[in-house]
Amino acid sequence: MFLVERRSPEGLSAHARPAFPAMRVLIGGGTGFVGRALTQLLKNQGHEVTLVSRSPGKNRITWDELSRLGLPPCDGVVNLSGENVLNPLRRWNESFRQDIVTSRVETTKALAKAIAEAEPPPLAWVLVTGVGYYQPSHTTKYTEDSPGGDFDFFSRLVTRWEAAAKIPSDATRQVVVRSGVVLGRDGGAIAQMLWPFRLGLGGPIASGRQPFPWIHVADLTGIVAHALEQEGVSGILNGVAPSAVTTTNKDFAQAMGSALRRPALLPLPGFAVSTIFGPERSIMLLEGQRVVPKRTLESNYCFEFPDLPSALRDILS
Ligand SMILES: NC(=O)c1ccc[n+]([C@@H]2O[C@H](COP(=O)([O-])OP(=O)(O)OC[C@H]3O[C@@H](n4cnc5c(N)ncnc54)[C@H](OP(=O)(O)O)[C@@H]3O)[C@@H](O)[C@H]2O)c1
Repeated sequence: MFLVERRSPEGLSAHARPAFPAMRVLIGGGTGFVGRALTQLLKNQGHEVTLVSRSPGKNRITWDELSRLGLPPCDGVVNLSGENVLNPLRRWNESFRQDIVTSRVETTKALAKAIAEAEPPPLAWVLVTGVGYYQPSHTTKYTEDSPGGDFDFFSRLVTRWEAAAKIPSDATRQVVVRSGVVLGRDGGAIAQMLWPFRLGLGGPIASGRQPFPWIHVADLTGIVAHALEQEGVSGILNGVAPSAVTTTNKDFAQAMGSALRRPALLPLPGFAVSTIFGPERSIMLLEGQRVVPKRTLESNYCFEFPDLPSALRDILS
C-alpha cells in the first residue's frame, strides 16, 4: 500500500499513514501563500486540484464562472481567499475594510451556495479563518469551545465569515480552521520580517509580552488536508502549534535571531506600528491570543512542527 510519511510531534520516529483515495479539490484563493503550499501538498498526496481565482488560467475557474456554472465536479472544497490585511501599502480606511470583508465573506458565500446546489454534493468543505475570533489577552487560554466573535472589527469579521460558510445539508462535512500567524518561507509574516532580522535590526514588537499564536504553513495545510480526508472531522479546529499557547512575541523575535544567528534586541515601538498600520489594524501585532489546538489534537492530527525553534530552523535553513 502507498504510504505517506509524517513526522511524529517529537520528530524522532517516522510515522506513516495510509494514503486516501484521490480526491478532486476546489480551492478558492489557492494562488496565495497558503494556497500554493496546500496545492503542492494535495498534489503530492495524489489529489487533483482546481483553483477559484479572480484571474483565469490553467486548472482554474473564475468566481464569475463559479456563480454562472455552479460547482465543477469535486469531492472537497476549501476557501483561502482574502485581501491581505497587513498590506502596509494600503491605508486603513473604510474602502480597505470593505475589501477585507467582501473578499472573505462574499467568496465564502459563493462557495457555500455552489456546494448547497451541487448534485452530488462534495464530501467536505473547509474554511480557513483566524484566531482573531478570540479576545486578545495575556492570560486567558482559548480552545475551540471558548466564546468570542463580538468585540472588535476582526472578531466580528470572523463571525460573519464563518456564518457565510454554513450550508443547510449534512451531506457535506463542514470544518472551520481558525489559523494563527502562518510561518513559511514563501510569504506571510516571515517574508515581511526577514530583512530587518537578517540585518540585525529585528526585535520584539512593543513590550514583546503579547502572545504570538503561530503555525508552520506545513501544519496549516496538513490540518486542511486532514480535514478533507478524515470522515470523522467536523466543526471548529484551532490552527496553531501546540506550543504556541506559551509563545510571546519576544520569544518569536529571539527564536528568529538565534535561527539567523543575529541579535534580535531592537524593539519596534508600538507607536510606529500604530502609525504604519492604524490603531484598529495594529491590534494584530500589538496584542495576541493564547490559543490551544484542543480539538485539532483530539482529531488525531499529528503536528510536524510543534515547537518554534524546529519550525524556524526548517523555514530559515
Ligand atoms: N497568512 C496568515 O498568517 C493567515 C493567518 C490567519 C488567517 N489567514 C487566512 O488564510 C487565508 C489564506 O491566507 P494567505 O496568506 O494565503 O492569503 P494571501 O496569499 O494574501 O491571499 C490569498 C488569495 O486571496 C485572493 N484575494 C486577494 N485579495 C482578494 C480580493 N480583494 N478579492 C477576492 N480574492 C482576493 C487571491 O487570489 P486570486 O488573486 O487568485 O483571486 C490570493 O491569492 C486568508 O483568508 C487569510 O485571511 C492567513
